[in-house]
Formats: sequence, structure tokens, C-alpha cells
Amino acid sequence: MFRRRAPVSAPVTIWFEGEEVQAEQGESLAAALLAAGVSVFRHTAVNGAARAPFCMIGNCFDCLVEIDGETARQSCLATVREGMKVRRQQRPRSTEPDD
Ligand code: FES
Repeated sequence: MFRRRAPVSAPVTIWFEGEEVQAEQGESLAAALLAAGVSVFRHTAVNGAARAPFCMIGNCFDCLVEIDGETARQSCLATVREGMKVRRQQRPRSTEPDD
């Protein structure tokens, strides 16, 4: 659905679900994953519907992923970093208070 308008000029290697992805230095993680053909970033807690970035400005929370083991990160607000390991959000964000 999405594709780059120009080749990557300053490559950054990230990993999504164990697969290598070439990103452009300085771009958002959501943009990099969309350009790589990723179409499912998480599934809803209510009915398991597939979700992907919608607003790209931090409002909708449809872009949540796990980044380097930290869950519930908004990929549209995260900048790619060399070696970043990203996974689909595996479970809904907890509503329980932290201990
Ligand atoms: S795409 Fe909406 S919060 Fe990230």
C-alpha cells in the first residue's frame, strides 16, 4: 500500500518480528514499517481486529508495538535507531496499577 518515493539514502537497520528492515535515518518507526509492507501492528483487546497506524501524530494508539522489550510504544512517535528490535503488540496494555 505504501512505498518510498526515493531510495533509502542513510540506511538504518531495524528488526521487525525477526526480519531485517531497512529504514531511513530520522524517520518514524511507523513510517519505516509501513514502507516495508507491514500492515498489522497490533490486534485489539476487544475482538482481536488487526490495527495499523491511522493518525501518525500520536492520537489514535493504533500503532502500538513492542520496542526492545518495552510494550505499548507508539511507533508513529518513535524514531528508528540502529538495531532496534520491534514486535507486534502481543497483549493489551494493562489497566492495573504498577506495584
Ligand atoms: S498512528 Fe495514531 S497514535 Fe500512532
